[in-house]
Amino acid sequence: MRNIKLFESERHKFVLLNESEPGEEDGIRSNQYLIIHEGVGALFDPGGFGVMPRVLAEMLRYLPPDQIRGIFLSHQDPDIVGGLSTWLELTKCPVYVSRIWLRFLPHYGLKDMSRFVGVPDRGMDCEVVPGFKLTIIPAHFLHSEGQINVYDPVSKILFSGDIGAAMLPMDKDDAYVDDFSSHLPFIAGFHRRYMCSNKAIRCWLDTIADLEIDMIAPQHGPVYRGTAVRDFLDWMRDLQCGVDLMESGGHFSTEFV
Ligand SMILES: [Fe+2]
Ligand SMILES: [Fe+2]
Repeated sequence: MRNIKLFESERHKFVLLNESEPGEEDGIRSNQYLIIHEGVGALFDPGGFGVMPRVLAEMLRYLPPDQIRGIFLSHQDPDIVGGLSTWLELTKCPVYVSRIWLRFLPHYGLKDMSRFVGVPDRGMDCEVVPGFKLTIIPAHFLHSEGQINVYDPVSKILFSGDIGAAMLPMDKDDAYVDDFSSHLPFIAGFHRRYMCSNKAIRCWLDTIADLEIDMIAPQHGPVYRGTAVRDFLDWMRDLQCGVDLMESGGHFSTEFV
């Protein structure tokens, strides 16, 4: 359970709303994030069906769900989309997701797709309400074929979806990564297996190169801050992963530990 303000000013907050418990989400803890800007909100990767009540309870400390003006889905996985039909009932806002997932989402039992916005491959600028701007950044194949990140220029936080995600052991639940080298064992295997290729990483790094990033907020595990931000991005630059490591017969040239 979280509820940590990663950034706070009078007009703007970026909150790690909830971290689901294992068991709620099939043993993988996941983060849900909320930005509150002058009384309206944006919600990121709201989570699966099991976490929905807890996310809602934490959100109610800040605003009612009908003040959510944008929901952003980093990609199509069930730990992100599973609870969406309830969120659609509680809100009236658009839902942003890569255009390539629009025709798959109805399989989650979502009948009305009229509120979905298919984000183009190049990403898009998004004015949630006048004066509340977010930038949707493409992160294709990291790991999903249509993955998006969202950059908040006020807090300088990059919401990165599964990029940077950590699988922490049960007894560890740090909120932040301050020392990247001690965090590396918790991300290395996941990134080697789930991130698709070094080319995809390089394209993403070029895309975000001009952004001032104070924190990287992933969908699983602790939030990168301070020198850990640059250390993580530097590690990613040289990472061989996914198809880079693939060999015939279903083998890979490394162990994913
Ligand atoms: Fe995923
Ligand atoms: Fe995930």
